[in-house]
Amino acid sequence: MKKIFIVFTLILFTSCGMNNQVVTKSPDSSVELSFKVNDGRPYYSIKKNNKIIVDESLLGLMLKNNLDFTNDLEIKSISSSSHSSKWSPTFGEEKNILNEYNQMKVLLSKDSLEMLLLFKIFNDGVAFKYDVPNQKNIISYNIIDEKTEFNLSSDDKAWWIPAFSYRRYEFLHAFSSVDSISKKYFSKNVEDISYDSLGIDAAHTPFTLKKKNGFYVTIHEANLVNYSSMTLAPKGNGLLEAELYPWSDGTKVKLNSNISSPWRTIQIAENSSDLLLSNMILNLNDDPDEEIDFSWVKPGKYMGVWWEMIGTNESTWWPSANHGANNKKVTEYIDFASEHGFDGLLVEGWNEGWHPGWCCSGNGNPFSFTKTQRDFNLPYLSEYALDKGIRLVGHHETGGQIQNYENQLDDAFSLYQKHGIKFIKTGYVNDVSKNIKRIDENGETVFEWHHGQYMINHMQRVIEKAAEYEISIIKHEPIKDTGLRRKYPNFISREGAKGQEFNGFSSNGVNHITILPFTRMLSGPMDYTPGIFKLNNFRYVSPDNRVIDKNAIVPSTITKELALYVVLYSPMQMAADLPNHYLAHPKAFEFIKNVPVDWSERKLIDSEIGSHLIIARRDKYSENWYVGGITNENEKILSFDFSFLDENKNYKLNLFSDSSDTHWRDNPMEYQISNQEIDSNSILEFRMAPGGGFAMEIILQH
Ligand code: NOJ
Repeated sequence: MKKIFIVFTLILFTSCGMNNQVVTKSPDSSVELSFKVNDGRPYYSIKKNNKIIVDESLLGLMLKNNLDFTNDLEIKSISSSSHSSKWSPTFGEEKNILNEYNQMKVLLSKDSLEMLLLFKIFNDGVAFKYDVPNQKNIISYNIIDEKTEFNLSSDDKAWWIPAFSYRRYEFLHAFSSVDSISKKYFSKNVEDISYDSLGIDAAHTPFTLKKKNGFYVTIHEANLVNYSSMTLAPKGNGLLEAELYPWSDGTKVKLNSNISSPWRTIQIAENSSDLLLSNMILNLNDDPDEEIDFSWVKPGKYMGVWWEMIGTNESTWWPSANHGANNKKVTEYIDFASEHGFDGLLVEGWNEGWHPGWCCSGNGNPFSFTKTQRDFNLPYLSEYALDKGIRLVGHHETGGQIQNYENQLDDAFSLYQKHGIKFIKTGYVNDVSKNIKRIDENGETVFEWHHGQYMINHMQRVIEKAAEYEISIIKHEPIKDTGLRRKYPNFISREGAKGQEFNGFSSNGVNHITILPFTRMLSGPMDYTPGIFKLNNFRYVSPDNRVIDKNAIVPSTITKELALYVVLYSPMQMAADLPNHYLAHPKAFEFIKNVPVDWSERKLIDSEIGSHLIIARRDKYSENWYVGGITNENEKILSFDFSFLDENKNYKLNLFSDSSDTHWRDNPMEYQISNQEIDSNSILEFRMAPGGGFAMEIILQH
């Protein structure tokens, strides 16, 4: 990543008012952060265009040994600075990213002890963090509680998923008043999780809300390293309080020395589209260490011996007559993926440890990451793939057995490195709350939460170790993205929500995908695995019973599946369906083959959360544009305006749109293709079917 320019000046934009209150504004003055200490307690509030976004809210940390950094505090000093720079990610949604903010550092003291609060005020929101430097009178840096509040209003409504629940981030979204956040509400209105009673009522981040005053706001965190995930717990009257996932002994964060918390972020936009344009999370992360070369990390597209296990249900991960990862099948997939220009082929179920009950207890057979199943010849197949110009994508399902995985990390990575494998999809399925087994310092077995510091540190170890072996990671059942992909480009993608796979073995419903871009996707790229073309009559009752399960449908249309390659950004994109299903739609498959995974710019054409989203992206390596549009269960008639294109240039348009009869439930696989010349003055009318969408390829004509 290259910095293009940096301007760093000290200016005075922080003003001191009554009640000890200091106010700092964003570079464009639209966002205003106020900070004060009242009766020894620190408070902040945020306004945008003079309207309240977050009302007066408490800040502070409580450390072990009764060190309470929420009261008896005094302001020791305040300093301000401003920053403006541009940087270029190695790959991403935009070629150049502007990082511009005003910063305020507040040094607070409590007797002889000090804590630093850092605020960055951007044009699109506010971020702040806690730093407790090393000090001789601090006995322990362990955090017992973080007291950060977000004082919203009971009238503000949020899209949220429950935290402290068994299935990590894999839930549909509730949409309710912030005061309603509870497992009870979720069970009644969204999905039944009433049997999962461990832990408090709280919501995960990114947490997106529509405020009564019209603003769209997302609360999240950036640069989550050696800390614990922040969730948001409702306290009534619109107040949310940060709730960190605890260790099994109740401590929230364990540290041997100074505290440097992740950034708490509040992104603010006047409409749902602008929310998607914020780069704040990446801007709050660091560039890669200069001495580490990441030039080997390359974006790409892959297929997989995968949907036939999770979707069509014709193969197994475990040894059986229908074992998917066998030499014959894998070579056929390699041939197909290579012929159609893919970069990789994922193969799941290649290793020992799989059995029919593998998935859910976290305490079953340990997986081996070096021993292959008898019908899978790793040296032969990896060589065969390399000869055909593609690479196998490795797979490490850990089942949430962390110690077992860590014991094998070096051997597993060096095996894959030896065979030219550049990407590994990792997985942490363990469908029980607070069930990550750990042997503690006293040799006792304890159980940790998936999102606590233990797992955050584990994921960090994996990503750093993978970089040593020049391997990129596509993480499933991950910790949420907080922008670490900037510093570790090999953290190329991750899941972390209900993805396409749930449409294989259950259903996400038709509207989920119109909420994801404004919630989960605000944290970073997602391995959603789009591109299912056979949307009904695709699933067998079981691998041994080849009767079609008529109830299984992917609630989408083929055009929407194409649109997802543009809508859902990921530098490592999967074409998830089976080769035969692609051969039935060669022209639509051509779109998947052509669509880029690395972009120079994006234009949000139109959106509303839960309703629709239309986005245009320009290829990084040409002047071609790709547009994706998706809608919820309701049809949308569009009068599509191409004014985002460069003036006085001619383009060829390939449009994949729903036909007049297309419908996600009854007729999802019908679409029409039109090819025509267009320019920036063109306007085109067409339809998005209920649950449908459209995809465009716009090629510059020379
Ligand atoms: C869950 C992952 O999300 C899925 O993609 C994978 O196939 C299974 N775990 C098995 O590892």
